[in-house]
Amino acid sequence: MKNKIQKIAIFSGAGVSAESGLKTFRDHDGLWEEFSIYEVATPEAWQENPEKVLEFYNRRRKQIIEAIPNAAHIAIAALEKHFEVSVITQNIDNLHEKAGSTEVIHLHGEISKSQSHIDPKEIYELDGELLSIGEKDSYGFQLRPHVVWFGEPVLQLEIARQKVMECDALIIVGTSLNVYPAASLIHLTKATCLKFIIDPAQITLDHVKNLKYIRAKASEGLPIVVERLMKSLITEE
Ligand code: OAD
Repeated sequence: MKNKIQKIAIFSGAGVSAESGLKTFRDHDGLWEEFSIYEVATPEAWQENPEKVLEFYNRRRKQIIEAIPNAAHIAIAALEKHFEVSVITQNIDNLHEKAGSTEVIHLHGEISKSQSHIDPKEIYELDGELLSIGEKDSYGFQLRPHVVWFGEPVLQLEIARQKVMECDALIIVGTSLNVYPAASLIHLTKATCLKFIIDPAQITLDHVKNLKYIRAKASEGLPIVVERLMKSLITEE
């Protein structure tokens, strides 16, 4: 007997937003080709040169505010009409939310927010595209972007783990699966879980059962997977 698909988890990375005009990190023209991780995305970088770090995130925030969701974000949001959907994203943009997804777990933070350096739970929604030198937390220290830097703990990992363990289908889209612990989540699925991986590049995952590779851009691959999942509903009736 076929297992009924009720719960779907999406595990997304920078590639899902590439067709909205936002750069990925590790592609040939990616952000980590242009910028050094050690100069803009570590706690040490923040201590040494907060102006440079703020400038990096201010530029990205401006691009993100201007970006609109693409067909992949929209297809993911549309799944909610028929399934219980949890989006687990490594992205700090808000394109899943803009497309209408209602449960988005941001493992690496959200660029639209600032946080206290002293108390990471002190988080503020930013008013516009800029976080500037001189904007202080309640302790009187400079506010930083609400993003996870290398060497810092990932956010909401426990809830993300739970969603992956419970899901009947997992869609992995637009991630090189290079950054841990986020990438290790995909190994927590139950044995019967259907898994799809959508990426134009070859991503090889050994020892993963029930995995279907869709070598395509997110905007092309997502509709194929959505159609397949919808068919599973019809065949169950
Ligand atoms: P990467 O840049 O490592 O990987 C992007 C993936 O997207 C690659 O596998 C590309 O082939 C794929 N891709 C490119 N265009 C695509 C498209 N149109 N549709 C679908 N896929 C496409 O980005 P992430 O895996 O998200 O962390 O990177 C993970 C983390 O590394 C980020 O969250 C960030 C970064 O350092 C922090 O800053 C903490």
